[in-house]
Amino acid sequence: MTAIPDPALVVLIGASGSGKSHWAAERYRAQEIVSSDDLRGVVGSGRHDLDASDDAFRLLDQIVAARARRGLTTVVDTLGLDPARRSAYLASASGRLPVVAVVFETPDRLCRERNAARDRPVPAPALAGQLKRVRDLDLRDEPWDQVVTLAGGETPVQRPEPQPSASEVPERNVVLQVSRFPWGDDPAGWLRGIALAADEAGFGGIALMDHLIQIPQVDRAWEPIPEPFTTLGMLAGLDTRLRLGTLCTPATFRPGGVVAKTVATLDVLSNGRAFVGIGAGWFEREHAAYGLPFPPPRVRLDEVERSIHTMRALWSKGTKPYDSEVLTLPETTCYPRPVGQPQIIVGGKGERRTLRIAAELGDACNLPTTDVLDHKLAVFEEHCQRAGRDVAVTVLDLPVVGRDRDDVWARVERLRGNRTAATYAERHHAATVEQTAERYRALFARGIATIFVALPDLAAAEDVLALAPLTNLS
Ligand code: UTP
Ligand code: MG
Repeated sequence: MTAIPDPALVVLIGASGSGKSHWAAERYRAQEIVSSDDLRGVVGSGRHDLDASDDAFRLLDQIVAARARRGLTTVVDTLGLDPARRSAYLASASGRLPVVAVVFETPDRLCRERNAARDRPVPAPALAGQLKRVRDLDLRDEPWDQVVTLAGGETPVQRPEPQPSASEVPERNVVLQVSRFPWGDDPAGWLRGIALAADEAGFGGIALMDHLIQIPQVDRAWEPIPEPFTTLGMLAGLDTRLRLGTLCTPATFRPGGVVAKTVATLDVLSNGRAFVGIGAGWFEREHAAYGLPFPPPRVRLDEVERSIHTMRALWSKGTKPYDSEVLTLPETTCYPRPVGQPQIIVGGKGERRTLRIAAELGDACNLPTTDVLDHKLAVFEEHCQRAGRDVAVTVLDLPVVGRDRDDVWARVERLRGNRTAATYAERHHAATVEQTAERYRALFARGIATIFVALPDLAAAEDVLALAPLTNLS
């Protein structure tokens, strides 16, 4: 069965006992399912009070419309056999949600058996009528985005999208970005716990943001955010295989030569596990507060370029002078030299300059996994072609990951602030860990080299261990 989009308006169609309610309950939260039987129970004497049908359906229409308006997944659990009602659901969702019809072509015999086993069976002639209407159903003239037909009567296994073969899924290429630090009164102990958990869970590394004040997208300004290179130095001393680096260091914070020196040292002390993300910086407030200049974008991007040149010059063999269009150095004496070649990842989305710098000078370009990804990838690809270079793409993903659908939505509700749940859930790919693993498989299948993952609600080592399924995708 192909994957059903989420969010979506899902309309179930099938005779009594065909397994509609059962199917819905296995996949969706109770709050997402609107059932005419349940609503009869609310406004009538019970689930089978047919006299309450008109009131129940009026309510049902209202609930469907209200949820569709908010972009929230809604499963309509009725017989679904009335074309006029279907067309009203389609109208409610129009332009707001994809519309999916799920048709239960469960064998007649099975429906009859299940019906007979019930406390209040549907009269046999009524069931026969329903079964005939399912057989005669023709949805071709209705504007569904997707029609799913379930024939077996048994619960089908949901297995979305083809998967890349094991060899296409790179190993240890999911890296944990730690962006919040709820470390209580034991900062070093908390960090050690997170790093050891990341290594155990199979992450390829740890990335830290480089900010002087916690950024508003993550937390409040007075929450702790440690200086990343000092912190990475401590993590380098742990017995792990984790790569260690920043995502991203603003070129405005430290002269490129100092970044080169720091990363070289980190690489030596971690035995070749260092990488560095570099960007133009954007958070004006932290610059002002720490007495750092915050020049216009053009100047900051010049600095990104100069920093990359400086790192490459200082990390290369010998001590000879360096001379390029953007940078002249009388000598390039930097000892210790890095053990390996620390990867330089350029962060930022600016299409004209940032992506060009990444294509011309970077080892990788880091993009967000939001809805801009496809477009940015295309623009970056053009820059690479023009530069005649093959540069890796990494992505930063900020997912809300839950144990199950209920847990996912409880987290969305906790985290969304004043954004609507649907908007927040979409932007943060709110999903179970299994669904998130599928999404990562698809990203790797598209050629993404590394996925940086930052949890908006990372609190403790357990949260990191729970992500183990994301790191072992083959
Ligand atoms: P449902 O109660 O899901 O049927 O299944 P339905 O389509 O929603 O029926 P109406 O329209 O509300 O009357 C009927 C019975 O079959 C079992 C369910 O647990 C329920 O007792 N069932 C259904 C299974 O055991 N396995 C299935 O895969 C589907
Ligand atoms: Mg039902």
